[in-house]
Amino acid sequence: MSRFLSLAPALLVLVGVLALALPALGQTRGLGRPALPEEIKAWDIDLRPDGHGVPPGQGSVKEGEAIFLKQCAACHGEFGEGAGRWPVVAGRESLVNENPEKTVGSYWPHVTTVFDYVRRTMPFGNAQSLTDGEVYALTAFLLHMNDLVKEDFVLASDTIAAVALPNAGGFYDDDRETTEKHFWGTEPCMKNCKAEVTILNRARALDVTPDDKGAPKVE
Ligand code: HEC
Repeated sequence: MSRFLSLAPALLVLVGVLALALPALGQTRGLGRPALPEEIKAWDIDLRPDGHGVPPGQGSVKEGEAIFLKQCAACHGEFGEGAGRWPVVAGRESLVNENPEKTVGSYWPHVTTVFDYVRRTMPFGNAQSLTDGEVYALTAFLLHMNDLVKEDFVLASDTIAAVALPNAGGFYDDDRETTEKHFWGTEPCMKNCKAEVTILNRARALDVTPDDKGAPKVE
C-alpha cells in the first residue's frame, strides 16, 4: 500500500474536523450567497388570523363569481357543492351530523386561512397562477357561497381579519401537556420495562395472511 493511501483515513478525519470547526470560527465554505430581499419576499407569504402579512388588495363577490365559474367550478361545482368526488367548499351543516361536511363555512377557522390556502394551492394543477386581487375576490365569493356575506361584499386587506367564521372557536392550542398529564408516568420507562414477554398468537396461526394452502380457492 502506498504511503498516501495509508495516510488517507487520518486525512479524511482532519478534513472532517476542519469542516465542522470552520463555521464555528466564523468562516464560510464559500458556497451559496445571502438570499435577496425579493427572494425572501416570494417565500414569506404566510398570513396570520389577525391579518398580519396579508398583501394589499381587494376583491368583490361579483368578481370572484366570474373567476370561480371559469377556474374552479369544473371541480368544486357552480355552487361549491363539489362536482363528482371533488371537494365540497360550501355548506354550513353542523360538524356533529352523521356525515359532517368540512367546508369553509362549517369547519375552517379564519378567513386568512382560506385566502392563504387558495393563494398557495388553487386552482389544483395550476397553483400560484392567481393575482392577489383574484384571491381576494375568490375568498369573498367562497364566503358568499357559505351565506356568510352579502352579494355586494368586498373583501380587502384591511377588513379580512374582521370577518369571523362560524367554527373559529372550534380550534384551540394543543393543551395535552396539561389535560393529559395524569396519563403520563413521572419517569417513563425506556429499557427492560417488561420482565417477561409472552407471545399469545401469530399472524400465521390466525390465518390473517393466508399462505397458498390456507387461501380461499378461486374458482
Ligand atoms: C382540477 C380540480 C380543481 C380545480 C380546478 C380547483 N380545485 Fe380546489 N381543490 C381541489 C382538490 C383536489 C382539493 C383538495 C386538495 C387536498 O385536500 O389536498 C381542493 C381543495 C380546495 C379547497 C379546500 C376545501 C376543503 O375544505 O378542504 C378550497 C377552498 C378550494 N379548493 C378552492 C378552489 C378555488 C377557489 C379554485 C379556483 C381558483 C379551485 N379550488 C380550483 C381540486 C380543484
